[in-house]
Amino acid sequence: MMKANIAVLPGDGIGPEIVAEAVKALRAVARRFGHAFELAEHPAGGAAFERCGDCLPEETLAACKAADAVLLGAVGGPKWDELPLEKRPERRALLTLRSELGLFANLRPAKVWDALKGASPLKDEIVARGIDLLIVRELAGGAYFGGKGRADGGKTAYDITPYSEREIVRVARIAFEAARRRGQGRGPSRPPKVASVDKANVLETSRLWRETVSALHAAGYADVELEHMYVDNAAMQLVREPSRFDVILTENMFGDILSDEAAQISGSIGMLPSASLGAARGGLYEPIHGSAPDIAGKGIANPVATILSAAMMLRHAFGLSAEADAVERAVADTLAAGLRTRDLAGGASPAVSTREMGDAIAGRILLQSRRAGALCAEIR
Ligand code: IPM
Ligand code: MN
Repeated sequence: MMKANIAVLPGDGIGPEIVAEAVKALRAVARRFGHAFELAEHPAGGAAFERCGDCLPEETLAACKAADAVLLGAVGGPKWDELPLEKRPERRALLTLRSELGLFANLRPAKVWDALKGASPLKDEIVARGIDLLIVRELAGGAYFGGKGRADGGKTAYDITPYSEREIVRVARIAFEAARRRGQGRGPSRPPKVASVDKANVLETSRLWRETVSALHAAGYADVELEHMYVDNAAMQLVREPSRFDVILTENMFGDILSDEAAQISGSIGMLPSASLGAARGGLYEPIHGSAPDIAGKGIANPVATILSAAMMLRHAFGLSAEADAVERAVADTLAAGLRTRDLAGGASPAVSTREMGDAIAGRILLQSRRAGALCAEIR
């Protein structure tokens, strides 16, 4: 039995709809495994701006800092496009939250689910070789947080991309450790691999990145295969031969871009979860997709990325791996049963709503109970 306080930030656009389904999944886990999850909602993003003129109200930030983990939907939308950068939902809510919580490593697993092999836009023979990779994106540095401004009376703009050795080491370590964990039980034919992605032929920060990752590798991770790759080539290899990747380690902006690409090759951006981790236990869990204002309020968004983010929370924040497995199994079984939200259904088959998908997954979490297992054993 575990007690945990979870701060829930639905945010904007489809955020509230998809977060409701992830909360449902967490409640199902609590019920089945006997945990007590306290789930308290807080305003963030444009929704909070409308209420109090701040996309990240003090009360929300304080609640996130006090919580054992944070679940976030998405923030932003065209309504707040005209706000100055530092007030916009993306910067004020998301980037401030990431830096205030000290989150520097963003784990974004991308894989093709068995039931969704046909949904990948890649050729069947490429998908058949397997797509199962983890992007470890640096989350607290680079151009997103470096100095920015205008010169020349506004006609020149700049965003500085600073990286320190310390920032590179701490995220690289997480990538090597993740590669090791993924390699366990896979057998010697598939050793753990890290592809460190940079642009060292042009950027000084990339040269430091490459030197630092190589030194850390030599000092403590010789059992992990390390390759360095330029980001343009990595973008190409992701669609040409995604099976060659295990863990991809990269800086903030490259990781942002490559993870959207990885999402698309795995079928739908509505399927990819993420965990943002820092030095302390806890962390922030959110789908990699945005607030999709064009489909907000229609009940057609795919809640799976958010539900899988909740599974990552169970595993990384609380160490509840059986519970995380149960959520992931419920997702796999629901897909195998043929349920598809609109993004996955294509034009052909009828699609289920956000809520129907969430109900089906939560129902399966409850149904895989030990009692069900025992009953099945009895009638076998
Ligand atoms: C993401 C998003 C954010 C990012 C934006 C909204 C600031 O695109 O989580 O990938 O770039 O980090
Ligand atoms: Mn992004």
